[in-house]
Amino acid sequence: MIRTNKIIAIDGYSSCGKSTLAKALATKLRYLYVDSGAMYRAVTLHLIRVARPIEDEEGIAEELENINLDFEVKSGENRIFLNGEDVSEEIRQMYVSDLVSEVSAIKAVRVAMVAQQQKLGKRLDIVMDGRDIGTTVFPDADLKIFMTADPKIRAERRYLELKNKGENITLEEVFENLAHRDYIDTTREESPLIRADDAIILDNTNLNEEEQLQFVLDRL
Ligand code: DC
Repeated sequence: MIRTNKIIAIDGYSSCGKSTLAKALATKLRYLYVDSGAMYRAVTLHLIRVARPIEDEEGIAEELENINLDFEVKSGENRIFLNGEDVSEEIRQMYVSDLVSEVSAIKAVRVAMVAQQQKLGKRLDIVMDGRDIGTTVFPDADLKIFMTADPKIRAERRYLELKNKGENITLEEVFENLAHRDYIDTTREESPLIRADDAIILDNTNLNEEEQLQFVLDRL
């Protein structure tokens, strides 16, 4: 069947500003914004809560049956619900970030998340950000952007964001977490983070939010 809705895929390294750009684009174009990373984070939070060890892939595959994810836009903010509970803030905590890449590398987790993401992209105009959107989830996306930025700048941006939220953390810890996640995300077996051949590279080390938005709009 020929798809008539529009899909924009934004992939890239951790803390590159993918979600900021994706949100701005979705608002400008009146598309739905889907943060696929939030889904992996919610699954991770659930597994932490039920104390499932990461090594227990079979158990995790079974546990996925007990996970229900919902999305809502409330006062312009995207919220994610894990079995009915709004976990939008909790999933950004460092203890979740520390495990999320390991959880996202598990095949059963990826298969389940990709299926949900593809369902969302069947009829709606959407902007989705993540790691494998242009390669695996929507290889036929209308526009693919691959974001990158200097790792030091990325760590500083994320550090300030977490500090502003009151997290007790050092810049080194943030830098280490990003480096660790980039490593796992790019080297895992299941749909690793790589640039799709037809994705346009956007290095935003020296670009402000408006310039990034314009960069994408110019390519639509
Ligand atoms: O975008 P984020 O930092 O919130 O994503 C959290 C983790 O989820 C990231 O380290 C890798 C994983 N992820 C993924 O494997 N595939 C996606 N499409 C999105 C995120």
